[in-house]
Amino acid sequence: MISLDLSGHLTMITGAGGGIGGALAADFSDLGSDVVLSCHNSRKECEKLAEQIEKKGQKAFIVQGDISRSEDCRRMVEEAQNYFSRPIDILVNNAGFFYDVVPLVEMTDAQVSKTIDINLKGTMFMSREVCSRLVADDHPGRVINITSGAAHSGRENFSNYCASKAGVLGFTRALALELAPHHINVNSVSVGYVEVGKWEGDDQKDAVRAGIIPRILLRVPGKPEDISHMVAYLAGECGDWITGSDFKIDGGESCGRVPYIVP
Ligand SMILES: NC(=O)c1ccc[n+]([C@@H]2O[C@H](COP(=O)([O-])OP(=O)(O)OC[C@H]3O[C@@H](n4cnc5c(N)ncnc54)[C@H](OP(=O)(O)O)[C@@H]3O)[C@@H](O)[C@H]2O)c1
Repeated sequence: MISLDLSGHLTMITGAGGGIGGALAADFSDLGSDVVLSCHNSRKECEKLAEQIEKKGQKAFIVQGDISRSEDCRRMVEEAQNYFSRPIDILVNNAGFFYDVVPLVEMTDAQVSKTIDINLKGTMFMSREVCSRLVADDHPGRVINITSGAAHSGRENFSNYCASKAGVLGFTRALALELAPHHINVNSVSVGYVEVGKWEGDDQKDAVRAGIIPRILLRVPGKPEDISHMVAYLAGECGDWITGSDFKIDGGESCGRVPYIVP
């Protein structure tokens, strides 16, 4: 019988205070997992989330740091392990940065580095910290990396972001190969256009929407839950025979030319 139960697991979610991160935290705790909520600036959002999760009966512990700094990643994982006294066996590398939107010919060194450091190096640092402990303890686990449709198709003025997220795809496959003998499955989810709370009130939202919605086959933006449900599927028993794969959750945006629909 199909089971999505995650009881007994300990899941670390980076970017837990963000839009998709919040849905991940809610879904994973609803399915029975204790959670480590990793944030950079959104401590208050994580405190609210932790309160809701604890009310439902799961444990939630907040760690704070910059995932582009390996020493912060090491400290956050250590703090969580010390608190729970058991291994983090599910890691969701969800934190990401996509705000330096600029043509390459105008891009500064700092704009190149920041996006790559957070999205790619941060994913690698967190994975190393969590997986080294799992391997040492001979404990099975899961790593699920959140990447983007932009890793597959180019997107103008987003070359730093496209490169960083395409790097995550390559990293996912390489890590799946390395960790399969240790029973740690590594996959990625390529996210399409998902409207998150932070964008509410953003002046550009309507213009962005008008440009993107016609490219989505299902004609609506994604919700954070559309992503977290897929990640939860991969994290539990359903994902036992899935590793080294990428799953596009994008309302059909990536499948090709959108058919003309007579209004
Ligand atoms: N929404 C979309 O349409 C879309 C599309 C494709 C891919 N994605 C990917 O989905 C993931 C989640 O994004 P979202 O839409 O939920 O956006 P979001 O609300 O902005 O969340 C991103 C999170 O990343 C965290 N973060 C950024 N820089 C960090 C750093 N240096 N160290 C630690 N954490 C850091 C932020 O943490 P703090 O808030 O604590 O600072 C934030 O909570 C990202 O990887 C993004 O690239 C989203």
